Amino acid sequence: QSFFATSGLLAGKKALVTAGGTQEPLDPVRYLGNRSSGRMGFAVAEALREAGAETILVSAPNELPTPPGVRRIAVMTAEEMHAAVMDEFAHMDIVVKAAAVADYRPLANAEQKIKKDGSSLTLELVPTPDILAECGKKKERQFLVGFAAETEKLYEHAQAKMQRKNVDMLVANDVTKPGAGFGSPTNIVSLLFPNGKKIDLPQMNKLDVARRLVQEIAERLSEKE
Ligand code: CTP
Ligand code: CA
Repeated sequence: QSFFATSGLLAGKKALVTAGGTQEPLDPVRYLGNRSSGRMGFAVAEALREAGAETILVSAPNELPTPPGVRRIAVMTAEEMHAAVMDEFAHMDIVVKAAAVADYRPLANAEQKIKKDGSSLTLELVPTPDILAECGKKKERQFLVGFAAETEKLYEHAQAKMQRKNVDMLVANDVTKPGAGFGSPTNIVSLLFPNGKKIDLPQMNKLDVARRLVQEIAERLSEKE
């Protein structure tokens, strides 16, 4: 696959990507979920692999095919994703958190299907672990990439996330733009860096966005070394 500009750039590196929307069970037939398709994360895993990295894809449930040469670890909930990421984190050189992780889960997962009785129902939700923030605290040599899906104040919110979670690159997208984010085959993202640099990318298909991310990662990884 020598026709990729990124070919061989990440040879010998180990990378982990999370993708998809976690599902938080409520009862045996229902869950709390979100509109993430998983496509952006799958494209990142494909692009990392193309660049020669040994790549693990920790994915919430979806129908997408696993990119060739990528090891897929299937998870369902935020807590399962947390466990899978933390298991591998110490060995990784690059960690990209593209997953849409549920921020809350139902406190109770009912053993039997919840029955309606005509009155209103209140669900108690409890917070899930923030996987990216934990990676940011634990990181040593790892190059850590976070995503921020926003519906308003894109730069302000994304900037705050970058600092709070101690990431090396933050991929911000305004999910209200047509052609960006959830469900779309394309994305429109801005890349933010801790030194204040910002790159606004035009609308591109998700694999091209992913290849561009890989170039940026490779450049900065070689600066770190
Ligand atoms: N993330 C995570 N674990 C969580 C929630 C989010 O690892 N429990 C990661 C996502 O994978 C993403 C980044 O944190 O890379 C930002 O996710 P986002 O939902 O945009 O931000 P939050 O910090 O959850 O803040 P909020 O949803 O309130 O905007
Ligand atoms: Ca969130």
